[in-house]
Amino acid sequence: MNINVSNYRQAVSKVQLSNAAFDELLSISLKSESKIQADRLDINFACNGSFYSRSLSEELRTIRNIIEHGSHVLILDGFKTDNLEAFKSLVWAFGSSLGRPMVQNHLGHKIIEVYDRGGKSIEEGGRYHQTRQGAYIHNDGVSDPLPIDYLVLACGQKALLGGESILIDASAVYAELMAFADVLEELKRDFYFENRGMSEEECLFKAPILSFSQEGIPLIRYFRVNIESAHLKAQVPLTLSQVRALDFLDAVLDQSSVQHRVLLEPGQVLISADNKFLHTRTHFIDKHTPHSEINDKAPLSSLNRYMLRMWLRKQ
Ligand SMILES: [Fe+2]
Repeated sequence: MNINVSNYRQAVSKVQLSNAAFDELLSISLKSESKIQADRLDINFACNGSFYSRSLSEELRTIRNIIEHGSHVLILDGFKTDNLEAFKSLVWAFGSSLGRPMVQNHLGHKIIEVYDRGGKSIEEGGRYHQTRQGAYIHNDGVSDPLPIDYLVLACGQKALLGGESILIDASAVYAELMAFADVLEELKRDFYFENRGMSEEECLFKAPILSFSQEGIPLIRYFRVNIESAHLKAQVPLTLSQVRALDFLDAVLDQSSVQHRVLLEPGQVLISADNKFLHTRTHFIDKHTPHSEINDKAPLSSLNRYMLRMWLRKQ
């Protein structure tokens, strides 16, 4: 495995699987492709870890180690395929080998296609992953009391212009807020969150925005819109002190000093520990007119910006 560790402010570390490991992943993905008929890809489990070769097992372990105990983020390069069907199968095979895919919506989907459908804007009720708009800084795991261990974002095609991913390390946020002890204390206390989009049944739960892992690493859980909505539903208005703490946090998140920008190229997969990084993306412009449906046989080179997202838990 090639690991190219760069200056973190300039670039996220890039990793490439060895030929042997990648070929094994390809053969797993071809098997899962042949099982797919009219069904969605994510109702099949791609593989059983006990059949992995030594090289693939070791390289998956290295990636898990980097995400859990190293920089907590990396880019895996080299996921090139000809068409969309092969790309979906490859990403599914990789994700379900790295961890246990989680359900991401009330329909039970475990792999989500992120592309502009050309429909409603977020303000008009559109879903973020179906638009070309930038969005609030957040982490994905705000809708569930348990964290997402590995957040996977695989790039099939990039936009004509824009669409950068912005990553913010919780440790950098914590360091900036050290000068404001009262704000830090407030963020360590419970806020209400909601399970929006995850289930037909609405559920509220309490959790702090800032906390620490057993090793003392800062963890973060934040999506201001989710928190504000949950407090309204709980009929527990945010206090002035809580609103002030969120305003301080937002001001920190807007600073370039805590932001890392990454423009994913086709075939690159961004993997991060969702509870150690906040993220967002910038607005983008596509090359072609958007469509709500894409043919799986379409070559990746013909697509607008297209990403696949998976949420994984440790196996
Ligand atoms: Fe997200």
